[in-house]
This record gives sequence, structure tokens and C-alpha cells, in this order.
Amino acid sequence: MLLKRVNSRIRQRRPLPANRRRQKSPVIILLLLILTSLCLGWGMELALGSNGKPDLRAQASAAVTGTVDIVPERYRLGQQLYLENCSSCHIALPPEVMPTETWRQLLLDLNQHYGKRLEPILRPSLLAMWSYIRQFSRPLKEKEATPYRLTQSRYFKALHPQVKFSQPVRPATCVSCHPNVAQYDYRSLTTEW
Ligand code: HEC
Ligand code: HEC
Repeated sequence: MLLKRVNSRIRQRRPLPANRRRQKSPVIILLLLILTSLCLGWGMELALGSNGKPDLRAQASAAVTGTVDIVPERYRLGQQLYLENCSSCHIALPPEVMPTETWRQLLLDLNQHYGKRLEPILRPSLLAMWSYIRQFSRPLKEKEATPYRLTQSRYFKALHPQVKFSQPVRPATCVSCHPNVAQYDYRSLTTEW
């Protein structure tokens, strides 16, 4: 509210009536400017916080899980909700294996999920899941088609530089090399690796 008023004041540049002009001391204007920049700074931090990579402090306090990256505290709820909602029919796939856009489309279209209809997910839960998934997946290149199968995902390939797959990968086949996928652990491998 205040910020809006200040901004429109600044934009308008309308001369104030003579009787009010006297009241506006430079000190007040300066204070308003400082306040504005503080508010802007705060807003910027929020915006960066949701897109940027996990900060070091959060990483230090986060426990190591079996996934590719350490999950900072603020993404834990999203991760938990993701595991609850996306691991009942198949194992939960780590966000790293698909581009962000794939996940976005999957979350937007729960009604048509590979021929299945998923239970609706409440909006706050969906948003928390989204912030977790977005943080741990990477964007598509420009004009790159959105993959809906792991076999088409560049990121899945990139995570398996040394593996030659003899059969097409599906959520059901991960366990043949990652014995602890039921615990969402994609780091452990069977002894042959
Ligand atoms: C009601 C059961 C069900 C639930 C719950 C479910 N899925 Fe699926 N999912 C499926 C089926 C069925 C397939 C297709 C399997 C196949 O064709 O091999 C699939 C396939 C997938 C694939 C493609 C895997 C591949 O073959 O490359 C992804 C990615 C995926 N699901 C993500 C999710 C996400 C994210 C959620 C949570 C929002 C979720 N699933 C929840 C049933 C489900
Ligand atoms: C044929 C064996 C095999 C199968 C099947 C397989 N993986 Fe892997 N995976 C590996 C190996 C080996 C590595 C280690 C990287 C390397 O050596 O290429 C790996 C690494 C990973 C990593 C990176 C883990 C880390 O330490 O950062 C993820 C994530 C992953 N796999 C996910 C999956 C998912 C999801 C599936 C099923 C859709 C799957 N993998 C199926 C063999 C396999």
C-alpha cells in the first residue's frame, strides 16, 4: 500500500498544492526512498530465492539423502509431498532425470497421466511440490521438444554416462541397478557397477 502510494507519487510528479508542498521536508523524502529501496531489495531476494541454487547455509544444515543433490530445509515439504503423491503406482522418479518443463506439464495435467487419471492435488501442495521439482531439474534448450519418456530425456542420458541400456528404461526397471529406489535412493548401485 505505502509502496504503491510512494511509487505513484514518484511517477506522477504532479506539483503538490502550495500548502502541502511546505510540509514535505527532504528528510521525509529521503526516508521514503530508503524504505522503497529496502522493500524492493526484499522483493528481489524472494524472487532469487525461489529460482537460485540452494544457498550454502541451507546446504550445511541439510542432511544428505540418496538423491543427486542435497535437499535444503525449505524444499523438504515439497519433496515429501512429491513422494506421497507420485510414488503409489510407480517408484518416485528423481526430478533430475527429466527437464523442468516435463514436470510442469505433468503437474498441470493430472487428469491425463499416461492413460490414467490422478487424484486431484490441493493447490498449496502442488505449489510446494513444484518448487522442489523446479529446484532440482533443469530447463530445456530453446526449441527442444518436451520429452515424456525417460528414454527421450537428455538429462536421463547425461546422468548415465557409462551405462549402455539393453532394454528401454521405465520406472519399473530402475531397481535392477539401483537396489534402494524404494527409499528414493538413486545413489546406491548394485555390486556389478
Ligand atoms: C494412478 C497411478 C499413478 C500415479 C499416482 C502417478 N503415476 Fe506416473 N505413471 C503412471 C502410469 C500408468 C505411467 C505409464 C507407465 C508405462 O507406460 O510404462 C506413468 C508414467 C510416468 C512417467 C513416465 C515414465 C517413463 O516411462 O519414462 C513419469 C515421468 C511420471 N509417471 C511421473 C509421475 C508424477 C510426477 C506423479 C505425481 C504427480 C505420478 N507419476 C503419479 C501412473 C501413475
Ligand atoms: C543398467 C543399470 C541402470 C539402470 C536400469 C538405471 N540406472 Fe541410474 N545409474 C546407473 C549407474 C551405473 C549410475 C552411475 C553413473 C554412471 O556410471 O553412468 C547411475 C546413476 C543415476 C543417477 C545419478 C545418481 C547420483 O549419484 O547422482 C540417477 C538420478 C539415476 N541413475 C536414476 C535412474 C532412474 C530414475 C532409473 C530408472 C528409470 C535408472 N537410473 C536406471 C545404472 C542404472
